[in-house]
Amino acid sequence: MAKSKYEYVKKFEKNDSLLPNTWLVIRVDGRGFHKFSDRHGFVKPNDQKALELMNKCAENVMNEIDDIVLAYGQSDEYRKIVSTIVSLFSSNYVFHWNKYFPDKELLYPPSFDGRVVQYPGDNNLRDYLSWRQADCTSSFFIC
Ligand code: GTP
Ligand code: MG
Repeated sequence: MAKSKYEYVKKFEKNDSLLPNTWLVIRVDGRGFHKFSDRHGFVKPNDQKALELMNKCAENVMNEIDDIVLAYGQSDEYRKIVSTIVSLFSSNYVFHWNKYFPDKELLYPPSFDGRVVQYPGDNNLRDYLSWRQADCTSSFFIC
């Protein structure tokens, strides 16, 4: 493609590639789900169908990510991992909504945020998972 005078905007892209040889933990979190759960009448504290829908999304992302991990295994393309996973998770949520809530209309488009954290060693990863587990069992909601 021919260079244009607008091409300078690429300089605003900063290098956000991730470190190699680290565990990448990507957290996907429903945005404003307090309201979303209320509006859709989710059972309190845990709505079985809603949890199953989340699990279905995670399962599908895992199935898809197999390829993505191979394709993104190295280089600065790591930066695409978060957006890909969050996007895939969100689209699965909407795609499978009716299967889990056949009598409930989806009132507005749900969204999720995502962040990636890099853990350099197995111990860090284990402690991260322990922390999530402790957080999970001390709150009402299943994580
Ligand atoms: P942000 O993530 O900051 O956008 O806020 P949020 O409103 O999504 O709150 P947060 O992620 O801290 O917590 C998730 C919220 O979703 C909980 O506080 C509940 O209100 C709601 N929630 C999650 N799962 C369920 C469920 O199974 N049943 C019900 N009734 N509510 C749920
Ligand atoms: Mg949330």
